Amino acid sequence: MSEAGTFLPQEVIRTKRDGGIIADADIKRFVTGITDGSVTDGQVAALGMAVFFNGMTPEEGAALTLAMRDSGDVMKWTELGFEAGAPIVDKHSTGGVGDKVSLMLAPIVAACGGYVPMISGRGLGHTGGTLDKLEAIPGYDPYPSIKKFADIVKTVGCSIIGQTGDLAPADKRFYSIRDVTATVESIPLITASILSKKLSAGLNALVMDVKFGNGAFMDSYEKAEELARNIVRVAGAAGVPTTALLTDMNQVLGRTAGNAVEIFETIEFLVNPKAADRRLVDITLDLAAHMLSLSGAQPNFDVARDKAAVALMRGDAAALFEKMVAAQGGPTDLFEKRDNHLKLSSVVKPVLAGKAGHVAAMDTRAIGMAVVALGGGRTNPSQAVDHSVGFTEICQIGDSVQADQPLAMVYARSEAEAEDAVNRFRTAVTISEAAVNAGPIVAQTIGE
Ligand code: URA
Repeated sequence: MSEAGTFLPQEVIRTKRDGGIIADADIKRFVTGITDGSVTDGQVAALGMAVFFNGMTPEEGAALTLAMRDSGDVMKWTELGFEAGAPIVDKHSTGGVGDKVSLMLAPIVAACGGYVPMISGRGLGHTGGTLDKLEAIPGYDPYPSIKKFADIVKTVGCSIIGQTGDLAPADKRFYSIRDVTATVESIPLITASILSKKLSAGLNALVMDVKFGNGAFMDSYEKAEELARNIVRVAGAAGVPTTALLTDMNQVLGRTAGNAVEIFETIEFLVNPKAADRRLVDITLDLAAHMLSLSGAQPNFDVARDKAAVALMRGDAAALFEKMVAAQGGPTDLFEKRDNHLKLSSVVKPVLAGKAGHVAAMDTRAIGMAVVALGGGRTNPSQAVDHSVGFTEICQIGDSVQADQPLAMVYARSEAEAEDAVNRFRTAVTISEAAVNAGPIVAQTIGE
């Protein structure tokens, strides 16, 4: 351990390298050094690698999370006109393909008495990002001032924005160094990274959607479960009650993957929920019910789930989504004039099944990468995305198909890109003779 006043990053690294426990004060000073640049890239990378191999105790994990949370602004909702203990609640997903759940979830929770200040991210690699999807809506401003953000949360009940540099800046630097030094896949570091950003939003409760399966960031069920348990434990130690759902990402979530196409699906879901994809409805209402019961906006899970279903079926959530979009600079008639406001690419082609049978499996990551190849995602953080491309009418595991039926429709900028996407999608789907049933979308709930 380094002495007070003589902080030496190399001593902190040495402690972890040798399997020891780092004192809270040293974790704080190391994180200060990450934020102000006094700890070098090499030292940050070395600590990342030492943690990767030797792990952290729950106490070290909580100290790291809190130090990273406090490296920038932490929102204080009581100073923004909210009562202490108000049901200020958010959901975070570890990311997937076709995961547009945040878009319907935030207004459902708002319609049932929760306040949702949702800070969301952009897509990277094969996974899509809520922010990119929202930017398919013309005029939508994902970076309002903090005051405007709080006003929208107060008046509408939800606001979805992007992360500003003022929230958890230590994570920004630490993550970018981990990304290029092979230390992303460390449970304590992922936990601190996710939670530092989420907790800087000043939440009173958090629900995590931890995905497993071939389209997830953590593909093994065991690893996803380990991450979920660690997040619940560390968030609890940091004073924010958290429930984690382990959810299946072995197929695209819902019937679309892309940006504008996912906004179309969101609108259809909200205005005509009876026709919506069943798995998408299930995961959304389960997450909503956990958010409402954990935050105290509703007395328990069952009451919360019924209320959430009513808010969806009655159109309350649809009205709030449109109100949120308008408050953030988007059109006031998004639903009615969606065909005018949301632009889709002009080259449209079906992905034909080619043989009759049952959809048995999907290489979900490959479908996510097909969206990236169309221009709808990015392979490095500075790339722009094309909001108009993607897939619609995506089949689901268990569907039976004829040879001349589409497994999906492709929206592309050119014939060549459409052809490539058709081939990628076709190869990603396995069709079997025997009927197949997909497992439930929510496999396990941790921390109830
Ligand atoms: N997402 C994050 O925000 N951080 C990680 O470390 C991994 C995934």
